[in-house]
Amino acid sequence: MPSSSSSSPNNYNIKILASILFAILLILCAGAGYGEAQLSPTFYDEDCPNATSIVSAVIEEALQTDPRIAASLTRLFFHDCFVNGCDGSVLLDNSSTIDSEKGAFANNNSARGFDVVDNIKTALETACPGIVSCADILAISAEESVSLSGGPSWTVLLGRRDSTTANRTAANEALPAPSFTLDELKASFAAVGLDTTDLVALSGAHTFGRAQCQFFSDRLYDFNSTGSSDPTLNSTYLETLSALCPESGNGSVLADLDPSTPDVFDADYFSNLQVHYGLLQSDQELFSTSGADTVDIVDSYSANQSAFFESFVISMNKMGNISVLTGTDGEIRLNCSKVNGDSYGSSATLIAEY
Ligand code: HEM
Ligand SMILES: *[C@@H]1O[C@H](CO)[C@@H](O)[C@H](O)[C@H]1NC(C)=O
Ligand SMILES: *[C@@H]1O[C@H](CO)[C@@H](O)[C@H](O)[C@H]1NC(C)=O
Ligand SMILES: *[C@@H]1O[C@H](CO)[C@@H](O)[C@H](O)[C@H]1NC(C)=O
Ligand SMILES: *[C@@H]1O[C@H](CO)[C@@H](O)[C@H](O)[C@H]1NC(C)=O
Ligand SMILES: *[C@@H]1O[C@H](CO)[C@@H](O)[C@H](O)[C@H]1NC(C)=O
Ligand SMILES: *[C@@H]1O[C@H](CO)[C@@H](O)[C@H](O)[C@H]1NC(C)=O
Ligand SMILES: *[C@@H]1O[C@H](CO)[C@@H](O)[C@H](O)[C@H]1NC(C)=O
Ligand SMILES: *[C@@H]1O[C@H](CO)[C@@H](O)[C@H](O)[C@H]1NC(C)=O
Ligand SMILES: *[C@@H]1O[C@H](CO)[C@@H](O)[C@H](O)[C@H]1NC(C)=O
Ligand SMILES: *[C@@H]1O[C@H](CO)[C@@H](O)[C@H](O)[C@H]1NC(C)=O
Repeated sequence: MPSSSSSSPNNYNIKILASILFAILLILCAGAGYGEAQLSPTFYDEDCPNATSIVSAVIEEALQTDPRIAASLTRLFFHDCFVNGCDGSVLLDNSSTIDSEKGAFANNNSARGFDVVDNIKTALETACPGIVSCADILAISAEESVSLSGGPSWTVLLGRRDSTTANRTAANEALPAPSFTLDELKASFAAVGLDTTDLVALSGAHTFGRAQCQFFSDRLYDFNSTGSSDPTLNSTYLETLSALCPESGNGSVLADLDPSTPDVFDADYFSNLQVHYGLLQSDQELFSTSGADTVDIVDSYSANQSAFFESFVISMNKMGNISVLTGTDGEIRLNCSKVNGDSYGSSATLIAEY
């Protein structure tokens, strides 16, 4: 059998042709990828292989004195991604060029965890200077916070770069309010490319953390200007919450978003909604809006925690991909609360690019 046909002239030509086609394909691929780099799970493998464990260690340390911090960091990632994409803009302080998003309604006296982000950044700058962006710190922190709290762990896609701008007006427009109806919630998510399943799955993050009385006390005393309580609030829960949040009391007092397991990331959020124990109107809307397509999704996550975890991971990856800066766009901030060059040198940006 003439098996060593590689020497036959026909085959030889075919091989050359194949090589040429392959080369063309490579060039086309490179061309297509140019300027629109994708996030990658291995982005820091060369230059900061321990990035995730460094982030995790700082969060574990913070959890020792602040059991709420995992929830706060998870929320920061959401508030970053919804406003001009996941670019670390939520972390910037006011300056001559920055109108801080920290002053937006949803963040003012509410968003927290900035000090822990700074500690993470300091630890990363020591281990691998100028490499890990503040936007990626938020992405990794959210994943580590969820997994350290009993939720799923997943491979975080990385390579985001940091913005040099922030926009408080945009934050006011983009971040949903706790008094939103289901239609308003859907619109808010659709505006950043997230669908109804994403809305329900991501709302499941309210399985941990706290909310201040001021964000739900209307439901206790004057829901929708009716002069009475929200009819979709469980009467037992109404009593508990009214005791915690007296009318015209201190609006900063905190309630657990998930009264059954306040610091654990599990599917209890969804079983709470089924017995009308959603703390925010925006939570209960998902289950109590009659005829809504969200009800079946709530029921399915309540019945099957693995299904919730699986959806949550998919939706977090989707949210984490909103309008990211990659390649040479933006910068790698040296201090997460300010843009490089805002009374800082920017030499580390060069190191980061090569
Ligand atoms: C669906 C629309 C949403 C609305 C209207 C909403 C609103 C709120 C409000 C009002 C609070 C309480 C803040 C305070 O009292 O200071 C809160 C807390 C929280 N939110 Fe949301 N949220 C939404 C979606 C999300 C999403 C998508 C995530 C994350 C994936 C998230 C994660 C959290 C966490 C973890 C907390 C607790 C934070 C802490 O204890 O510091 N939320 N949310
Ligand atoms: C990564 O961290 C582990 C301990 O957490 C340490 O043993 C290891 O040397 C570190 N690797 C690098 C490359 O820094
Ligand atoms: C930033 O400055 C503006 C005024 O320019 C002020 O209204 C706002 O409260 C400040 N925000 C923060 C977070 O300090
Ligand atoms: C944020 O809240 C403080 C009160 O704690 C207030 O003085 C400030 O004006 C608020 N900032 C904005 C931008 O509304
Ligand atoms: C900030 O966001 C608002 C609302 O999206 C937009 O109208 C405005 O142009 C933005 N400002 C800057 C400086 O990008
Ligand atoms: C609030 O009241 C208005 C009518 O005043 C009604 O159209 C709307 O559906 C109500 N919202 C809720 C959440 O009940
Ligand atoms: C309101 O409650 C918060 C949180 O419990 C507390 O830090 C603050 O001191 C209280 N303010 C007043 C005026 O009592
Ligand atoms: C209210 O909560 C109790 C548990 O505290 C539950 O047994 C009951 O079914 C709930 N009621 C409604 C209307 O969901
Ligand atoms: C729960 O959801 C997981 C993930 O979607 C699925 O593989 C599993 O079959 C479901 N379990 C049940 C009992 O339906
Ligand atoms: C992220 O967004 C880019 C560009 O919009 C898209 O090509 C890519 O498939 C998305 N990746 C994920 C994991 O959603
Ligand atoms: C980062 O910048 C802020 C000012 O926005 C400053 O207060 C802080 O000390 C800086 N952090 C570090 C680690 O230099």
